[in-house]
Amino acid sequence: MKTVLMTGLTGTLGPIVAAQFRLRGWEVIEWNHHHVSPEDKERCELFWQSLRIDAVCHMAMGSEEWAGWLAQRCAWRNIPYLFVSTAMVFDSEQDGPYGIFQDRNAKDAYGQYKTRCEDAIWKVNPNAMIARIGWQFHEGGEGNNMLAHLEQQNNEHGVIRASVGWFPATSHMEDTAFAFLQLIERNDAGLYHLDSNANDRWSFFELACALNTHFKKGWRIIPSEDYHHDQRLEDERIALPPLSSRLNA
Ligand SMILES: NC(=O)c1ccc[n+]([C@@H]2O[C@H](COP(=O)([O-])OP(=O)(O)OC[C@H]3O[C@@H](n4cnc5c(N)ncnc54)[C@H](OP(=O)(O)O)[C@@H]3O)[C@@H](O)[C@H]2O)c1
Repeated sequence: MKTVLMTGLTGTLGPIVAAQFRLRGWEVIEWNHHHVSPEDKERCELFWQSLRIDAVCHMAMGSEEWAGWLAQRCAWRNIPYLFVSTAMVFDSEQDGPYGIFQDRNAKDAYGQYKTRCEDAIWKVNPNAMIARIGWQFHEGGEGNNMLAHLEQQNNEHGVIRASVGWFPATSHMEDTAFAFLQLIERNDAGLYHLDSNANDRWSFFELACALNTHFKKGWRIIPSEDYHHDQRLEDERIALPPLSSRLNA
């Protein structure tokens, strides 16, 4: 049985990724930052030395120093390292769809933070894998989940305003989780873009309507012109199921 060390298991996406790995026979070990602080270098080193692992999947937020530290340890042990980044490394100033060679131009703090993480990783581990993903959705749970966010908006305002000019990068969390598993099992170094909207090109309005129908939500959705951005991520190497097959709408 292979063993993977995962960070971010107290988050939204992490538990779904862990479940996918377990389904495929992996043992999952958690790095919980509340128990072993990434700031405590001595404890980190002791914890790392105690691990017998075959791969690392780093999903937690946390410093770029931690992302680089883990990447370097994986390089020394010659084991796969996957870091989860975001479509937000691209600002709306320039429209997508974005290929992996597109220059990053994040203007907001989150996109800039992920950009720094990516750079810290490449600096120490050219064999790393970095997967950029869009806003995720899933029928269970709260957290950073598009479905839960829309539900909350509908509950609070009685209506959801969804832009017809935003073409988001997005995926169902289970499809993303399966893609992470494929990446780690293949261990082919490089940068990856994972987006179920790459070919469908659904606007946020169309997506919200499809989620509404598919999950029988009964939301009231009105089209808006609030935000314009083609945020889609292109990459033909890892094909996620398109939204049109995932959501029967
Ligand atoms: N969900 C999405 O739609 C989406 C979209 C694009 C990219 N991503 C990326 O995917 C990854 C997982 O996303 P998620 O939605 O599961 O995020 P999340 O729900 O916000 O969970 C974040 C995880 O990181 C941990 N964390 C937060 N601050 C930390 C710190 N300073 N040091 C160490 N750990 C820290 C959290 O632990 P505690 O909460 O226990 O403190 C939690 O386990 C993230 O890297 C995120 O940027 C997610």
